[in-house]
Amino acid sequence: MADSKMADAAATKSGAATPVLTVQNLEAWYGESHILHGINFNVNAGEVVTLLGRNGAGKTTTLKSVMGIIGKRTGSIRFGDQDITRTSSDKIARMGVAFCPEERGIFASLDVRENLLLPPVVRPGGLSLDQIFELFPNLKERLNSQGTKLSGGEQQMLAIARILRTGARFLMLDEPTEGLAPVIIQQIGHTIARLKKEGFTILLVEQNFRFAATVADRYYIVEHGKVIDGFKNSDLQANMDKLHTYLGV
Ligand SMILES: Nc1ncnc2c1ncn2[C@@H]1O[C@H](COP(=O)(O)OP(=O)(O)O)[C@@H](O)[C@H]1O
Ligand SMILES: [Mg+2]
Repeated sequence: MADSKMADAAATKSGAATPVLTVQNLEAWYGESHILHGINFNVNAGEVVTLLGRNGAGKTTTLKSVMGIIGKRTGSIRFGDQDITRTSSDKIARMGVAFCPEERGIFASLDVRENLLLPPVVRPGGLSLDQIFELFPNLKERLNSQGTKLSGGEQQMLAIARILRTGARFLMLDEPTEGLAPVIIQQIGHTIARLKKEGFTILLVEQNFRFAATVADRYYIVEHGKVIDGFKNSDLQANMDKLHTYLGV
């Protein structure tokens, strides 16, 4: 993790933003259903960027498109300086992109250790089990518990922990706080802040902007398959009225 810290410090010093993800005019389809109609946003190295929007707006579809698991997509998706618009999902994973799905994808019949060890390590620099247990002490206590026995919070922690082992440096987290108790949401917030400090770059999807506000550097608003607005965290207060309208909260 020391390398990433140095890289971070260097980026801060030079003041230059290093693009990690650049999405331009992304359109995507499920079969005949045209879902994304022009998604534009970018994420720079070391940032936490949040996609906000109502249910059904196209946030998950955007993450899946970046991961290469949507059959038909057009426009341009760049990871670093590489065009991944047509790259297969396993190759995208090996480039260091990780996706933590909304449904978490914990295997019920496997225990915590087995779930942790399941995703292949794709790059050097992944967290060791000891580093993972330092981040998520309760996972260590639950090491031999089956997936079915875990609470929602433990499942979410496991889902995040699992991708940290792989060596991915760009993490996409889809609604990690959904359905969780406030104290667990707070823990997830601390984890995201810690990962940011360690130099990870994070694309977060949230409906809970009060939570997002505790970790995000910037926001984009997704509506009907388009990015319709974007602003920095420092402009959040000034955008609050608009945000209430967009999100209907
Ligand atoms: N597998 C699918 N097949 C067809 N339509 C889908 C599928 N998954 C999602 N959709 C539709 O795509 C739209 C966007 O969904 P999604 O990206 O999941 O939204 P969000 O994550 O913002 O709630 C919704 O209208 C949803 O019904
Ligand atoms: Mg979703």
